[in-house]
Amino acid sequence: MQTAPIKPLKPYFHVIEDLGEHLDWVEFFGNDNPVEIDIGCGRGLFVFNAATQNPNINYLGLEIDYREGRRAAMRLLKREMPNARIIGGDCKVLLSKMIDKHSVQAAHVYFPDPWWKKRHHKRRLFTTEFCDLLADVIKPEGHLHSWTDVIEYFEVIKETGDCHPKFVSLEPPAERDPEDDLDYQTSFERKKRKMGLPIYRALWQRQPLAAD
Ligand SMILES: C[S@@+](CC[C@H](N)C(=O)[O-])C[C@H]1O[C@@H](n2cnc3c(N)ncnc32)[C@H](O)[C@@H]1O
Repeated sequence: MQTAPIKPLKPYFHVIEDLGEHLDWVEFFGNDNPVEIDIGCGRGLFVFNAATQNPNINYLGLEIDYREGRRAAMRLLKREMPNARIIGGDCKVLLSKMIDKHSVQAAHVYFPDPWWKKRHHKRRLFTTEFCDLLADVIKPEGHLHSWTDVIEYFEVIKETGDCHPKFVSLEPPAERDPEDDLDYQTSFERKKRKMGLPIYRALWQRQPLAAD
């Protein structure tokens, strides 16, 4: 069986291994605008919408599933978005080794995999160690957003963020009615809201460095 040729998606899609040891935002985006990251960006609806609405902010989607990451990048390529990119790879590698400390204005973690079975909970992304990595890269007073439809995981996420000494909880955005089918935060939000499920939202602010 013939497989479809892989379309060239540069500069919209990169694999982490091709980027070297250090990611310099100015070099990567070609300007020094603020950077926001979407961790586990899936098909990239958030990155696409946010980059369209905020042309003076750079958005980077991180996605461990290259196939999904390439789909997200295809969306960006079609519109030749100057301020949005996708990197395929494990976010933990990028967060812990490749980007400068306190160089990110906001991190978005939408609908992280719930790993339903109790014995798989240890695979969940949103842990204190994950928040430690985020606290290292988010700027003082920058933001961390996380939404999910899984109440039990949300309670863990909320407690993890609320108890973290480098974050302070803020009032999350209220739910609003979408204007069209693309007017959702992410593809998962659209899917879950169409199923009638409630969405739980959390928002934190990175404390000033003096509080570290
Ligand atoms: C349930 S999906 C949600 C996708 C998207 N955020 C949304 O709301 O539509 C979770 C995504 O996180 C990605 N993911 C899981 N672990 C990751 C990691 N360590 N680094 C980057 N992406 C990861 C998965 O591949 C998956 O696409």
